[in-house]
Amino acid sequence: MSLLEVSDISKSFSTGRDILGRRSGWTHAVQNVSFQLGTGECLAVVGESGAGKSTVGRIVLRLIEPDTGSITFDGHDVRAATPTRLRALRRGMQMIFQDPHSSLDPRMSILDAVAEPLVVHTDLDRKSRTATVRALLDKVGIGARYLARYPAELSGGQLQRVAIARALTLQPKMIVCDEPVAALDVSVRSQVLNLLRDLQDELGLAYLFVCHDLALIEVIADRVLVMAGGRVVESGTVEDIYHHPQEEYTQKLLAAIPVPVPRSARR
Ligand SMILES: Nc1ncnc2c1ncn2[C@@H]1O[C@H](COP(=O)(O)OP(=O)(O)OP(=O)(O)O)[C@@H](O)[C@H]1O
Ligand SMILES: [Mg+2]
Repeated sequence: MSLLEVSDISKSFSTGRDILGRRSGWTHAVQNVSFQLGTGECLAVVGESGAGKSTVGRIVLRLIEPDTGSITFDGHDVRAATPTRLRALRRGMQMIFQDPHSSLDPRMSILDAVAEPLVVHTDLDRKSRTATVRALLDKVGIGARYLARYPAELSGGQLQRVAIARALTLQPKMIVCDEPVAALDVSVRSQVLNLLRDLQDELGLAYLFVCHDLALIEVIADRVLVMAGGRVVESGTVEDIYHHPQEEYTQKLLAAIPVPVPRSARR
């Protein structure tokens, strides 16, 4: 069985109300989407703005309730999970957002931000928490000298590394990465992507990697799900999607890549 199994999920948002206050319009953000993600695997979800990529990621983490469909993570039914079970499941699935400036609390030191999940989910004492945070910051390439600093004192790339460290504290099996490098300077994007890839190899992490830019996924993804208008239009291995795209929509996305990215020598 796969680590994550998403089956036939749909979600509509109401977009307006008529003069009597009745819901009048609906956006079909996600329509009948199914996919699987194996342990240690990276599935990229690509597509233009509004395709429904982030909604899929949020539904998987149960931050949004779908209208229909089922989600199984690590053998457990996510939608049917009791609050206690959901709490346990949430340790195993974490999220990294696009903009680390808004995902990290500006009033929390780096130490406190990375230690927070340990405070919430474990009974480790302060000393052990600090030791864990030091090791995590080391793993993501941020020195212990940043422990007492605040988000405003770090660059976007450094902050995203901190957000990655925070996502790793509870040793998750999967991370939903929603455009994790889109807000970063082009010069640091590949560094952060390479870090994510190395962590994936080292820790056996699975990624659901939401990205609108096909050029960025080649170094990290194993398989690709192409979405448009809330639906899956095509899915396949990175090689398939890059070299033998079947759908016109995918071909257009590929044509929009300015410079072909050489295949990394990773696998
Ligand atoms: N909370 C919400 N209320 C109403 N409509 C929403 C909500 N969240 C998303 N939508 C709509 O659902 C559709 C899919 O949105 P979603 O954010 O999943 O797209 P996306 O593929 O992540 O786009 P982007 O690349 O711009 O991040 C869009 O039409 C969006 O306007
Ligand atoms: Mg999005």
